[in-house]
Amino acid sequence: MAKRFIDDVDVRGKRVFVRADFNVPIEGGRISDDRRIRLTVPTLTSILSRGGSVVVASHMGRPEGKGYEAGESMEPVRAHLEQLLGRPVRLVGPTPTHADARAAVLASKPGDVILLENLRFEKAEKKGCPDFAKQLAEYGDIYCNDAFGACHRTDSSMHALPLAMAGKPRVVGHLLRRELQYLQGVLDHPARPFVAILGGAKVSDKLPALRNLLDRVDTILVGGAMAFTFLRAKGLGTGASRVEPALVDDARAILELAAAKGISFHLPSDFVCAQQLAAGVDTVVEGPAIPDGWMGLDIGPRTLAEWASILSNAGTVMWNGPVGAFETPPFDAATFALARACADRAASGGIVVAGGGDTAAAVAQAGVADRFSHVSTGGGASLEMMEGKAFVTLDSIEDASELASARV
Ligand code: 3PG
Repeated sequence: MAKRFIDDVDVRGKRVFVRADFNVPIEGGRISDDRRIRLTVPTLTSILSRGGSVVVASHMGRPEGKGYEAGESMEPVRAHLEQLLGRPVRLVGPTPTHADARAAVLASKPGDVILLENLRFEKAEKKGCPDFAKQLAEYGDIYCNDAFGACHRTDSSMHALPLAMAGKPRVVGHLLRRELQYLQGVLDHPARPFVAILGGAKVSDKLPALRNLLDRVDTILVGGAMAFTFLRAKGLGTGASRVEPALVDDARAILELAAAKGISFHLPSDFVCAQQLAAGVDTVVEGPAIPDGWMGLDIGPRTLAEWASILSNAGTVMWNGPVGAFETPPFDAATFALARACADRAASGGIVVAGGGDTAAAVAQAGVADRFSHVSTGGGASLEMMEGKAFVTLDSIEDASELASARV
């Protein structure tokens, strides 16, 4: 069910506590991927342009709650957010509930933007402590969850805080609304045929998603190193490729279930293989069986052509996990080609959604992120949605229809 939306709430003169996921990669002091920040800006400008003020908070990294640590400070985010918003953003700390931070928040005025220091500087964010949530609850007249990437975490600011703010409006922001619309929409009401592409290194990471998707999709394409556990289950040689022996029986069970459900389940029929994973090494194309001493590191040209043709007829595509070792050229080629095939399908009317950090990075590197219907900002969160899990953190956010019935 749709959740109450920040744009539908009167924010004039109100302080809105926005829980964002600004847990962004920082390399050499520079934010290397700012999507999580950029896509929260419409939420913040919606509040500011309508006469509200913003207290925005996030975790960053995994500090263990021992107080302020300069290396995990939100300062790089503050500077970047200030640029994106074109107005001052004040970082308050040294920890979110410190007396100095509290005083600054309570003195804020309409139009102000306050960013709290890293929520995980306080142990209570991870461990739960009613007092912490109660103190943060004082910071806002309205709670807005715009942190899709953290929705699978029951950190205090995600779970205990909206519960502590019962009676006040509790809504979703622009980023979260779009994520739920696309991911839930695709899973619940896909245009057919519905094709899932799953890849990545470990089949163990993707088994729950595979099981859930078997009830929803028409076609599954499995690439990446996880394909080799399935090839082993089919009795094919996997050479020196990565296999998870303990999961071969599970893989076999999935293949049998897919067959019983009439799902078209595709494993690669050829691979780009090498004797070691390194840039520029000698490669051969083999498959589906891999010779001894060789590792499959990318899907091969025959597989790529076959999968591109399947994608060109898909009504919906959901993709999680690269199909090759895409960080190391030349084993990036098929992942990027597949990204382009997906973008072409989106351009011709298909709904194409990518989830997971590696997939989002690959789609961006292929230069086609803007041509996808949606690229999720969530890693673990988007995978849990594909697994069919419900987020308890969203239970305390009001349903849009509750508001409608309250108005009648
Ligand atoms: C993420 O990047 O997946 C989220 O921000 C959650 O971070 P966490 O895995 O450290 O809880």
